[in-house]
Order: sequence, then structure tokens, then C-alpha cells
Amino acid sequence: MHEAELAEIYDQAHRSRGKDYEGEAAQVTALIRERFPQAASLLDVACGSGAHLSFFQNHFGRVEGLELSESMLAVARERLSAGLLHQGDMRSFRLERTFDAVTCMFGSIGYMPSVADLQSALGCLARHTTPSGVVVVEPWWFAETFVDGYVSGALTTMGGRTIARVSHSVREGNVSRLRVHYVTASAEDGAQHFSETHDITLFSREDYRNAFAQAGLVAQYFEDVFSGRGLFVAVREGGDGP
Ligand SMILES: C[S@@+](CC[C@H](N)C(=O)[O-])C[C@H]1O[C@@H](n2cnc3c(N)ncnc32)[C@H](O)[C@@H]1O
Repeated sequence: MHEAELAEIYDQAHRSRGKDYEGEAAQVTALIRERFPQAASLLDVACGSGAHLSFFQNHFGRVEGLELSESMLAVARERLSAGLLHQGDMRSFRLERTFDAVTCMFGSIGYMPSVADLQSALGCLARHTTPSGVVVVEPWWFAETFVDGYVSGALTTMGGRTIARVSHSVREGNVSRLRVHYVTASAEDGAQHFSETHDITLFSREDYRNAFAQAGLVAQYFEDVFSGRGLFVAVREGGDGP
């Protein structure tokens, strides 16, 4: 299967495992408003196919997304009725404005290969946040909490195509290697199998805490939120824009 087709089925495959993008967007919005009641703009970094943004746009006057993958961005562009989408790397992007809230959801921050990259990414998120604005990061599993050998599976049907997604994750040093297998089947194409591998870094909770502090972000960690990996909610101390 082509990368573009994978982007099309990406969030549907996760929805079929019970992922509630609408509920998550509402919960994150509430956490942002508790800290910054007048928050009117939001940037979702590593926005993927725009699933959270499609609900954030109901809560914020202005929403924008940033994403590395052009295939994901293409799906996000089709989905979003409003909002700007940017191609870029979370470590180095530079938009000419700040946002009252900046989010990075669903463990995307784990794609940073080192502590230095984690620090660069959080620094970049902080520089795009209004002073006193809020940064929300859903981390990947911590080195302390990752379950070696974890298996997950889900089955869904959309647009005449049935998709089975099965993943297996193993620890390789400080990395979790996630092997995802897809079997898709439709009346026209029959059944096909393909797989992909993701290397996602197992930072410690302390790595995150230090990186937030270094970025000038005062972070709180909430356990047992969403996927069970928890959520960092941080407020930016005073400072200059990008
Ligand atoms: C687990 S997906 C999450 C997507 C979306 N946030 C969601 O909740 O459905 C991780 C996303 O991070 C993106 N990504 C990986 N490395 C990135 C980087 N360095 N900068 C920006 N986005 C990146 C991937 O292309 C992918 O769309």
C-alpha cells in the first residue's frame, strides 16, 4: 500500500481501536481554558491527518497545523474547512506568529531521536506560544512504563474496504520498535498485506521534565489520560515571540 493510502486510513484505523478524537479535543480544550480562559488560537504540531484539528476548529477562532508528511497533510487539507496547514519539522519550524495554545498529540514527540532533539522540539513549541499560553504534549511511553512485546489489534470497514491493523512493539535499547501490519481487502482489489516500522524513543519522565523546564515551560503531568500514556500541560513563562 502506498503512503498516501495509509494516510487516508490512518485515523480510522485508530478510531476502530476506540480512539476518541472529538472527546480528546474537548478535554484538551478544557485544560487549556482552565489556564488561559480567553485562548483563541491553536497550533497542532505533528497534526497528522488533521483529526484533532477538525474538532479543535469548533473551539478556537483560529487553528493551524504543522506536519512533516506531505501525505498526511493532503488528507488534513481535504478534511479541514478552515485553518492553515504548514509542512515542517517540529524541531525547526518557524511561523511568523504565536498561538495561545500549542498541542502535540498522540505520542508524536517520541519521533525525536535524542534528548537534544526533544529539547529543540519543545523549544520550538514554546517559541510559538503566546506568553502565558499553554502547551499540551501527549508523550509516548516513558522508558519506565513501556511494556516490551505489546500487541494491539483492530478491525474496521470504511468506503468498501476492510482493514485489519495489528502491531507488535519491542524495546531496542532506548527505542521502542513498533511493527505495524495491515491487511486490507475490497471487492475490486482483493486482499493485500503490507507493514511499516516506527522507531519511537523511550524518554524518561525526567527527560521530559528537564526539556520543558529548559524551554521555559512550567509543566504538570496528568497520568492515565487518553491512551494511558498521560498528558503534559504546560504554561509558557514570559518571553519573546518567534
Ligand atoms: C502518531 S502520529 C500522530 C498524528 C496526529 N497528531 C494524531 O493524533 O492522529 C505522528 C505524526 O508525527 C509526524 N511527525 C513525525 N516526525 C515529525 C517531525 N519531526 N516534525 C513534524 N511531524 C512529525 C508523523 O508524520 C505523523 O503524522
